[in-house]
Amino acid sequence: MDIRDRSILSGDKVLKLNFINDSGPYIFRRYYRSGLRSLIFEVLLAKDVEKETQGEIIDGLKMFPRAKPKKMFRILRNRFTSKDEILTEIRKYTILFTYLGPGLIAASEEFIVDYSNMGKREIVLCGLQEYIEGEILDPWRTPGENHLRDLFTAMSETDMTPEVWLGKVKQNIARFVEKIRKMIAHTGYIPDLAGIGNLIVTRDGRFKLVDINNIVPLKPDDTILIDDKGYPSCDVSVDVLSTLERDVLQKSLSPNDPLYSHFLTPERKKQVRLLEKTFYSRLTA
Ligand SMILES: Nc1ncnc2c1ncn2[C@@H]1O[C@H](COP(=O)(O)OP(=O)(O)O)[C@@H](O)[C@H]1O
Ligand SMILES: [Mg+2]
Repeated sequence: MDIRDRSILSGDKVLKLNFINDSGPYIFRRYYRSGLRSLIFEVLLAKDVEKETQGEIIDGLKMFPRAKPKKMFRILRNRFTSKDEILTEIRKYTILFTYLGPGLIAASEEFIVDYSNMGKREIVLCGLQEYIEGEILDPWRTPGENHLRDLFTAMSETDMTPEVWLGKVKQNIARFVEKIRKMIAHTGYIPDLAGIGNLIVTRDGRFKLVDINNIVPLKPDDTILIDDKGYPSCDVSVDVLSTLERDVLQKSLSPNDPLYSHFLTPERKKQVRLLEKTFYSRLTA
């Protein structure tokens, strides 16, 4: 691991990652995008990092090509109190993988670290995950199709026409919606679709959920559940799902749809907005 990234902030204390081997052909570097729940590192080849910093001569010009991650390394910031708790978390990931498959999520090899730091022991959940290169789909940017077109324009080096690419992405989003609905109906769980950066579209027309750790239950009553960070991610994720269907795929939604008619009533959405407001004001306080 790159010595500069050896110490990472976890909450307000510094963690020494003594379970990562520094030597070898790989370098772990903090990823430039980050979230609230996970620490994300890109796993880079040392020789690619050398080219990025020292440069290489391409067609007579000195270039500094960005080192592309071979994998992403995730450390969940949550600290677990028992092995059972952490195994439940891994089981939820397995459910997600079973329903969505490797085509629609960034697959991860999850593992547990019994971490010992200055005499204190902690159980940490980590994952070595497929890296997805692409643009972030923001479900609140409407109308959905224009947002997709902007994302296509932002991506370089694609040999597809916008129409072919749009058709492919939409087909994948439709599959995603269908599979998430199945997962909800069969298991009563929904992954976090709401976080910024959780959904990515790629140059070759794939659509992937990369945030695979915040999988929350849906309650069939009036309770609005908040997640461990105080965010109503279940309700907002259902809202994102409906936005993908209505705005991105331009489907007309039935007013009797049992999922949406339960979660997306104006009264309930009002309460969800208030919970979101509280969450954001606590974040910026
Ligand atoms: N496998 C991945 N490939 C590409 N980008 C990723 C990957 N995993 C996470 N990211 C990016 O890193 C940021 C934080 O990741 P996320 O999984 O959402 O973390 P958190 O659990 O903290 O919300 C997001 O912007 C996301 O797009
Ligand atoms: Mg996230």
